[in-house]
Amino acid sequence: MSVPYGFDGDISKPEMLASTSFHNGGGARERFTGKVVLITGASGGVGAVLADSFACEGAITVLADVNRNAGEALERSLRDRGHQAMFVTLDVSNAGDWSAAMERIQSEFGALHVLVNNAGIISRTGIRDVTSEEWQRVLNVNLMGSMLGIQSVAKLIRDSGGGSVVNVGSTSGVVGHPGVAYSASKWGLRALTRSAALDLLEWGIRVNAVHPSQVAGTGITKGANEGYRQASDRVMPAGRAVNAEEVASAVLFLASGESSYINATDLMVDGGAVSIGMPRMRSLLESEYSST
Ligand SMILES: NC(=O)c1ccc[n+]([C@@H]2O[C@H](COP(=O)([O-])OP(=O)(O)OC[C@H]3O[C@@H](n4cnc5c(N)ncnc54)[C@H](O)[C@@H]3O)[C@@H](O)[C@H]2O)c1
Repeated sequence: MSVPYGFDGDISKPEMLASTSFHNGGGARERFTGKVVLITGASGGVGAVLADSFACEGAITVLADVNRNAGEALERSLRDRGHQAMFVTLDVSNAGDWSAAMERIQSEFGALHVLVNNAGIISRTGIRDVTSEEWQRVLNVNLMGSMLGIQSVAKLIRDSGGGSVVNVGSTSGVVGHPGVAYSASKWGLRALTRSAALDLLEWGIRVNAVHPSQVAGTGITKGANEGYRQASDRVMPAGRAVNAEEVASAVLFLASGESSYINATDLMVDGGAVSIGMPRMRSLLESEYSST
């Protein structure tokens, strides 16, 4: 089995260590130099920050999105700063779009090392009102889109020497959420992560997921009711929303050789909300009561 990025964990081989991000000379981090990284939903929000972060660490980025104008603007901005980047129009729920994107990646770069399944849409409708159309639309993008993505890239990543897939889930896929279709899609993503990791093990492809809580300033968050947004930030253990850069940092870790022994796992990027959110709220309430 090939090991993503060539580090087989044997620290008796200094030449191997020197080639990994663990020992990069102490300068700016360059964990992805020469690596081709495909990011879906890259035109805005978390995806655009991901594209920038990967590019700043040496990656050749493929920016995939349905929003062509914003995607091409990001492509220009990355190129102007000396990075190699290519925008592709891609609706993640469309198998034909995936085939076309893979052909372009194959002909432009001949390799692929990382896929980040980041594209996602929100739905805030509960079980009493959700329609089958809305359910289908959300599941198609958030869940089927990620499945099609992994299926489409797997062979090229294998032939490129192995690599990593990172799925962008949500705390809504770990607890309940007012939007039943959104929550179901993100719970499903966790099953997809594990099953794909099992199947792709022998191809040297790790599959992991990150689960952010509410992310500050992205399209999805801006669409939320202001009162909900503020209340949600206030009750977080950290007292604030997570930044897209903090999400990107977790994604880059899972995409890089630094996480070479981490597979099929869920990394919460929620400031502890899911684990300690309840006791934290209780202590907040207790301090409010004791001060009255
Ligand atoms: N914003 C949050 O609070 C939050 C919290 C947890 C998880 N997430 C997840 O983070 C990811 C990014 O969300 P965001 O907050 O940056 O949202 P966003 O709306 O700012 O960005 C989403 C991007 O995905 C693109 N997109 C939408 N449908 C697509 C499709 N069918 N094919 C390709 N691209 C498509 C959009 O054009 C947009 O550029 C999503 O998977 C979302 O579920 C977001």
